[in-house]
Amino acid sequence: MTTIIGGIGTSHVPAVGAAIDHGKQEEPYWRSYFEKIQPAREWMASQRPDVCIVVYNDHASAFSLKLIPTFALGVATEFQPADEGYGPRQVPTVQGHPELAWHLAESLIGDEFDITIANEMDVDHGLTVPLSVMFGEPDAWPCRIIPLCVNVIQYPPPSGKRCFDLGRAIRRALDSYDGSDADSMKVAVFGTGGMSHQLQGERAGLINTDFDHAFMDELIAQPGVSCGRPHDEYIREAGSEGIELVMWFVMRGALDDHVDEVFRMHHVPTSNTSNGLLILQNAH
Ligand code: DHB
Ligand code: FE
Repeated sequence: MTTIIGGIGTSHVPAVGAAIDHGKQEEPYWRSYFEKIQPAREWMASQRPDVCIVVYNDHASAFSLKLIPTFALGVATEFQPADEGYGPRQVPTVQGHPELAWHLAESLIGDEFDITIANEMDVDHGLTVPLSVMFGEPDAWPCRIIPLCVNVIQYPPPSGKRCFDLGRAIRRALDSYDGSDADSMKVAVFGTGGMSHQLQGERAGLINTDFDHAFMDELIAQPGVSCGRPHDEYIREAGSEGIELVMWFVMRGALDDHVDEVFRMHHVPTSNTSNGLLILQNAH
């Protein structure tokens, strides 16, 4: 059995990664965003997780329209930052945790979540930006990472309820893990993507701050209800890329029914996307 130190919901805005990589944090456009996230980084540094399960989406980097797994679990020893057109981000290689990842695969598939097993999977901004948000610029990422990739690019994505139930199944897997390092293992679960944003078409640039806060409030207080929100409501209220938010339900499902809000941030502008960061812990 492992200890779950908390869940993190965060946007994965690629411009945030670029701002970090190119030393722009002190520039007027970026300064207030990076100031606001500082307490979240301090919380993470104080918690020192051993493993982070990062639920994220690939943006046609590791996968393409040739192959679209709904859920793909990375079981490799390492994952390389993907080349998204400008060369790979100069961030550390992501070190996996094959023993826990294979246990997750066995437990989830035994639990009737027929996930795809990925022995090789380059990770794009969907995964590396959330790591940069929470860990800054270390020489090596300070913990092992298990990537869990969700299709939210090609219709149809999984429902919020399916994601929430997957989170519950991940929790059962973490509770039954008995690897050699199980008793001392501290795990954090990331749900990434969102918040409201639309990158193309007539409504490009859409931001819905009221929706974003209501989403976070409901994620905390009544996830079993709000996971039933239909896809077209995300598109209408949160823009075409707002559907990435279903991944936050995987994180929420891995936590207890009652959680405490440790940290919340919402910031505009960072690029065209409404940027949110939420930390939850199981209630004491
Ligand atoms: C942006 C946001 C995304 O989620 C993404 O995948 C690509 C770009 C943006 O805000 O620019
Ligand atoms: Fe995205």
